[in-house]
Amino acid sequence: MTPDEFDARTSMFPCLQYGMWPSELYLFASACVDAGVTAVVESGVYNGVSTQVLHALFPGQVVSVEYDKSHLPKDFPFPVQIGDGAVLAPRAIARMVMLGVTAIGVLLDGPKSLRARAIKDQCVHDYPAVRVVGIHDHKPGLGFGETSHSWNPAFREAVGRHLDARVPLASREAHPKGPGLALWIR
Ligand SMILES: C[S@@+](CC[C@H](N)C(=O)[O-])C[C@H]1O[C@@H](n2cnc3c(N)ncnc32)[C@H](O)[C@@H]1O
Repeated sequence: MTPDEFDARTSMFPCLQYGMWPSELYLFASACVDAGVTAVVESGVYNGVSTQVLHALFPGQVVSVEYDKSHLPKDFPFPVQIGDGAVLAPRAIARMVMLGVTAIGVLLDGPKSLRARAIKDQCVHDYPAVRVVGIHDHKPGLGFGETSHSWNPAFREAVGRHLDARVPLASREAHPKGPGLALWIR
């Protein structure tokens, strides 16, 4: 998937506060496409921007998990499982594997940090079908073992700055490289 293809399929979705940036979603989604991923599990929905983008790219193949549905629009068009991602994300992966899915992407944007890394370690250990894991709001080199990061200068130059032109200026000035997505690929 090229950045332009990604933009064509997702530029209608807004860039909202606390939402992942387009370059970060592109980094995750393009790695999933390259790895042959056919189903995605997402933990951390908030007001649903990343969820809508994932559904635009992997229609009918996204399971989303969130423990606080108060920020979701009342008419949100996609199902969201309510509960702790540490419990529901591995459960969703197990169900996908049971149904015969052999390549799964996992996007963790809540919980964060050590708790996100614990979910990643468990999923990667227990399910060989997990091919790609992204952790949002994660700096490079913090023990996640990432194979790529959205702050990579070559990625920012070639892709990131172009896709993130839609992010409100105040956010770009506050975070010139974006919040940060660490990506692990099996
Ligand atoms: C930054 S927001 C997600 C934004 C969304 N991914 C996007 O890009 O549009 C983080 C969300 O993670 C949720 N969250 C935090 N810990 C969680 C957990 N253990 N299980 C499920 N959701 C959790 C929070 O309630 C919050 O809505």
